[in-house]
Amino acid sequence: MSRISKVVTVTTLMRMKSNGEKIVAVTAYDYPFARLVEDGGIHIILVGDSLGMVVQGRTSTLPVTMEEMIYHTRLVARGAEHAMVVGDMPFMSYQASMPEAVYNAGRFLKEGGAAAVKLEGGAAVCDRIRAMTEAGIPVQAHIGLTPQSVHQMGGFKVQRNEERLLADALEVEAAGAFSVVLEGIPAPIAAKITAQLKIPTIGIGAGPHCDGQVLVLHDMLGLNDRHQPKFVKQYARLGEQAREALRQYADDVQNGTFPGPEHCY
Ligand code: KIV
Repeated sequence: MSRISKVVTVTTLMRMKSNGEKIVAVTAYDYPFARLVEDGGIHIILVGDSLGMVVQGRTSTLPVTMEEMIYHTRLVARGAEHAMVVGDMPFMSYQASMPEAVYNAGRFLKEGGAAAVKLEGGAAVCDRIRAMTEAGIPVQAHIGLTPQSVHQMGGFKVQRNEERLLADALEVEAAGAFSVVLEGIPAPIAAKITAQLKIPTIGIGAGPHCDGQVLVLHDMLGLNDRHQPKFVKQYARLGEQAREALRQYADDVQNGTFPGPEHCY
């Protein structure tokens, strides 16, 4: 896939769904990776709160703060030219009250430079989605395995309640979401949801029939040495390459071959 020539908007994504053109999304958390993702021709860069796990080394996304999310969103927005930047609302930035939810969503656009926000939940967050959308903030919903509810779900578990998932998907669409992430859902259920919605579905661990796919960048590039879920495909082993490069550098310094004459003034 080559670089995208036009800025990706909510209209682009709706058009892609109706043309049957797959949407490609990936997470990123800083400027250099946002540049690489842009060069890869990706349509959506999600500044995911997964940064709590893959960048901060935590065991869940729950401790991630608004300030951290705004900071990382700003770094990514600086590197994104055409891809749509979506800022992920962290745990407790939208749950406690409506004014706080809308205010925090607005910060992603105003201070972070994002074009949209994402939040987790179905029917339970529809009033938030409606209020944000009315304030001019495009919202991507996220249903199924919602990592911010890890304790409620009893772990990071595949969600299989078809009736509930379908109802959640239809409700977030009716509330004004421009797209919905389907995470950890059996492929046949994700296919049914995708067929019933007008807005694009973006799957992660939800099979091939979604309108698009998203992966966590550090998982797909081999930069995360923790346990990988079944749905991850590793496209590179950058962690191994980095380790080898660092070993080489250490050897060179210790045996006196770096710096060489070509590195000296
Ligand atoms: O935080 C994140 O990276 C996400 C994706 C896994 C969808 O929510």
